[in-house]
Amino acid sequence: MTALIALHQATVQLGVGARSLTRLNPSLVCALSEVSMSVNAGERVALVGANGSGKSTLLRLLHGLLQPTQGRLSQARGLRQAMLFQRPHMLRMQVKNYVALGLWLQGSAWAQAHIQALATLERVGLIDLANRKARTLSGGQQQRVAMARAWALEPQLLLLDEPTASLDPHAKGEVESLMQAFAGQRSENTLIFSSHNLGQVKRLASRVLYLEKGRVLVDLPVNQFFDSNVLQAQYPAAHFFVKGEVL
Ligand SMILES: Nc1ncnc2c1ncn2[C@@H]1O[C@H](COP(=O)(O)OP(=O)(O)OP(=O)(O)O)[C@@H](O)[C@H]1O
Ligand SMILES: [Mg+2]
Repeated sequence: MTALIALHQATVQLGVGARSLTRLNPSLVCALSEVSMSVNAGERVALVGANGSGKSTLLRLLHGLLQPTQGRLSQARGLRQAMLFQRPHMLRMQVKNYVALGLWLQGSAWAQAHIQALATLERVGLIDLANRKARTLSGGQQQRVAMARAWALEPQLLLLDEPTASLDPHAKGEVESLMQAFAGQRSENTLIFSSHNLGQVKRLASRVLYLEKGRVLVDLPVNQFFDSNVLQAQYPAAHFFVKGEVL
């Protein structure tokens, strides 16, 4: 099976002057070091690891928002992807226009974008918010609207950076339901998300990548990642991390 998206020995350096780097500079931070991974259609991949381990950098790299300093990214031809940031940036406009704007930016005519935006809001159960000002929504509502906006673009790959951090349990559940609905909509729909919530990882992921200091140290199917016998024996650092998060 050909991969939907893959990284080949990708290294990302960040810091002052890093944007123009074409080779490594030992005085800068390596946010990612020699990461190779590939994701197939239909996978649900969770990225876990401590603060600063490189999860957001990896997502940004996969979405083309960063260039690798070394190594490369490859994507299936014509891959449609969308990304959801931890704190969605709501614009000063009605929810329906906020969703439509994403479609318009992608090339749809405004009238068509508007119709599609309303259809998506209906599908994700947010039609009642369509005329509200996006900025006046609660955090949980904003995250669901951002999810609707991404989904309206009909991506095959959805990247989400800590989609439920700082949400209350009810809002968390609603965002998780949308993630599940997206994953279940078509068999080729693919999720890559970062999370500090290991319960959520268990509920949503089919595969887990554990990052430490910019490296992917563990890449396992979800049931093996949460099998403490496997983890403790083969990946003690990840086992330590999982135990720490659970406490
Ligand atoms: N703009 C930047 N300039 C310099 N260093 C950066 C920049 N952004 C991130 N870094 C560094 O890159 C490393 C990886 O950061 P990243 O944000 O990817 O981690 P993370 O796993 O998403 O952490 P968190 O769980 O806190 O969100 C960290 O050492 C961080 O300090
Ligand atoms: Mg992050």
